Amino acid sequence: MDTSKSLSTQDLLGVARETFADQFGGIPSVEAHAPGRVELLGNHTDYNGGLVMASAINRETVVVGRPIPGRGALVHAVAFDASDTFLVDRVEQTEPGSWTRYVRGVCWALGERFGGLTSGFEAVFVGNVPLGGGLSSSASLQAAWARFLIGAGIVPRTGSLTGLDSSDPALHDQARMDIAQALRRSENAFVEVGSGLLDQFSAMFGAANQALTLDCLTLKHGLVPLGEHAPAIVVCDSGTSRRLADGMYDRRVAECQRVVDFFRSRIAVEGELMLRHIPLADLQANWDALDPVGRKRARHVLTENERVSQGAEALRNGDLTRFGQLISASHASSRDDFENSSPALDALIEAAAEAPGFLGGKLSGAGWAGCTVNLVKAEQAADFGAALARGYHKRTGLNTVVHVCHAAEGASARQVD
Ligand code: GLA
Repeated sequence: MDTSKSLSTQDLLGVARETFADQFGGIPSVEAHAPGRVELLGNHTDYNGGLVMASAINRETVVVGRPIPGRGALVHAVAFDASDTFLVDRVEQTEPGSWTRYVRGVCWALGERFGGLTSGFEAVFVGNVPLGGGLSSSASLQAAWARFLIGAGIVPRTGSLTGLDSSDPALHDQARMDIAQALRRSENAFVEVGSGLLDQFSAMFGAANQALTLDCLTLKHGLVPLGEHAPAIVVCDSGTSRRLADGMYDRRVAECQRVVDFFRSRIAVEGELMLRHIPLADLQANWDALDPVGRKRARHVLTENERVSQGAEALRNGDLTRFGQLISASHASSRDDFENSSPALDALIEAAAEAPGFLGGKLSGAGWAGCTVNLVKAEQAADFGAALARGYHKRTGLNTVVHVCHAAEGASARQVD
């Protein structure tokens, strides 16, 4: 088994500072970080106005940098050993799916939302969130950049941002939610992927040892403790990867939308009708009249919303067995109705189910490739990883990389003295 020995925050910061000195000279004035996330329940519910449950994890992106006079932005990506330069007043799109498009999009969206950027900057970023693996490396990157730009005063603290470091929870929440929404807008309008709010929300609101819940319609959100004897969150990488921008994700968004269109003349709601509003009973009553693909997608989303509510309840009751069963039921629904699993992901889940300490497991994020997330009894996490790796190899001939993670804090930034 290849168990990932991930770099610690301190290691990442060390690499980032060193690279900064090489690239730009001197030391950065602000250091920011933001986590990746696992989706515990609520697969493809977010853009349907549904419910999600996630945890930020201790895999993250770090950005270090400083403002500079003038309007130029100089960015260096350690992972790609590549740089990008652009003007903060004229942020143009680059190649679809590229890291530069994500970084530029953050500048574009925060500038638009919070009244323009005050200066240029030079900065370096590095991370240890597996790319394209369903752990939201992209939102981790976005949120770390957002916190850097705000921390360095390049995005001015206007409007709700004045509350970002407030001890008043309402002001603090509003600032984080506004940033998350600006980052989602960046992904939708600049990166041009029609994703929901789950990833950016998780990167901004992460909390140690907690599951996060979000109602994507009302934006009501909360924390559910994972408990004193918190299970390990074991992420298993199938060794296959994909990019959100490859078209499958947007196709699913459109398939869900077709069902909403069908119900538009049949169900009245205040505001815009979303899949979330359609009762499961109405879906079933109209099953034969609905298109055969859309109705399965919708059944997944509607039953998944129920699993999120039931999962939060189970967790509150300390019933990890039930919580795990709901996670596994989510995978089955993704596989059979939403059809966003893959033979590799299914093999990982089958191998996990036979491994010691397994409570439940599912694909994480968009699907089709990348990682599974498993809830495992903490004391059995190592044995679980070893058995799963053997089972996966036996089934597929592939090797998995196992990340034993825990729920971690959300994005933050600090001034360097
Ligand atoms: C990706 C998207 C999220 C969400 C998940 C699936 O991670 O970025 O908004 O839709 O897929 O739940």
